[in-house]
Amino acid sequence: MKNIAIFASGTGSNFAALVAKFSDAAAGVHISVLVCDQAGAPVLTKAQAAGIPIIKVDYRACGSKAKAETTILRQLPPVDLIVLAGYMRILGPTLLNAYPRQIINLHPALLPSFPGRTGIADAYNYGVRVTGITVHYVDSGIDSGEIIAQEPVRIVRGESLAELEVAIHAAEHKLLPAVVVELLNGGEE
Ligand code: GRF
Repeated sequence: MKNIAIFASGTGSNFAALVAKFSDAAAGVHISVLVCDQAGAPVLTKAQAAGIPIIKVDYRACGSKAKAETTILRQLPPVDLIVLAGYMRILGPTLLNAYPRQIINLHPALLPSFPGRTGIADAYNYGVRVTGITVHYVDSGIDSGEIIAQEPVRIVRGESLAELEVAIHAAEHKLLPAVVVELLNGGEE
């Protein structure tokens, strides 16, 4: 059994997809903890409902990114992988150096196109006919680490941004748990 930590800031639909996938012990992955930097984020309720321990971190109260990351590191149980699932922060060297090639992120566009916070809308507004999702290793840049997996999502003519968002999230909920299993257990399920 491999252990993961999930970092999330918001809704937590990908967190929920990971919880659903790994509720089956056959997947061989255990979610040890949720790390959340936003008080009141809906993902917190999802973790409570699933009985998953939570580390809450208040970056402002910590005074700096380095101090906040040290606070997280002190509380983090041993994990094989850290999964950023909607964690709206750029990681600093404190966390990156502690977990080399062990931190992955999910991005809702086909990197290197449309990095940043608004990847779905940026791709939609640009008018691309194919966008998609990317899972990549995290480095110190904005969505710039080595790509692990991608999945295309077509934009149908006349499709609304809201419809595209639904399609992107559906693709994310499949790809992210599959990539975690593959990285940790060599693709065996
Ligand atoms: C996802 O679209 C992910 O690609 C991006 O943040 C979003 C998180 O959504 N990094 P949710 O909180 O998992 O619903």
